[in-house]
Amino acid sequence: MIRRLTSTDASEIASLHIRSLPRDFLPSLGYKFNRILYENILQHTSTQAYGYIQRGRIAGCLVGVSDTNSLFKKIILGSWYKFIPLLIEKILRKPAVAIHIFETAFYSKSSYHQTKAELLIICLNSPLRRKGIGRKLVSYFKIHLKQHGIKSFIVSAYTHNIPANKFYVSLGGKLINTFIMYNKLWNVYELTANNGKK
Ligand SMILES: CC(C)(COP(=O)(O)OP(=O)(O)OC[C@H]1O[C@@H](n2cnc3c(N)ncnc32)[C@H](O)[C@@H]1OP(=O)(O)O)[C@@H](O)C(=O)NCCC(=O)NCCS
Repeated sequence: MIRRLTSTDASEIASLHIRSLPRDFLPSLGYKFNRILYENILQHTSTQAYGYIQRGRIAGCLVGVSDTNSLFKKIILGSWYKFIPLLIEKILRKPAVAIHIFETAFYSKSSYHQTKAELLIICLNSPLRRKGIGRKLVSYFKIHLKQHGIKSFIVSAYTHNIPANKFYVSLGGKLINTFIMYNKLWNVYELTANNGKK
């Protein structure tokens, strides 16, 4: 079953994100940071999130946004004080973290794209992968965008995340840009909000 997610689901989404992408930068900031981040993301009016529910738990999720710039601006201006105490210890231990946090906060500018809508994260528990659930979650997001007159959206993936890159290409994603963040190369894909392949 797929259902809409709200800010009350932030805790499960944070855990799923950390479990699914354990070597990524945001998961490295810890559960509490990610929970608060998702609470903020899910409270924003332009956010859409869907969960694949298995035995009452969120086993897969997609979080998308129709205006990334306004989301990040709101989080930075409205909630910076919630994140600072959680980050100080990590920055003192590893100063490079401060640069990565800056890159995250101003991420939307680093890829120089025009499309405002964005798929921020999609992840599934590993036994559920390659069963068409990811594609289904994306189709829910596309339907929402289409209903709101939005024709396309972007998504970024580390170039070394081969399954994710193949997934976006299989959905009709067109590689429109690359950029470097967290010292890693990222691909930016643009996808149409029309259902089915491009
Ligand atoms: C990326 C992810 C969400 C894909 O979801 P999924 O449910 O496994 O993907 P689907 O089953 O809907 O696959 C749709 C198509 O994408 C392609 N694809 C998906 N996973 C693939 C893989 N591991 N290798 C090659 N192609 C793949 C295939 O073309 C597939 O169609 P097919 O199975 O008929 O050949 C999932 O692998 C995942 O959660 N990965 C870990 C988290 C992650 O990397 N998220 C992306 C961050 S940018």
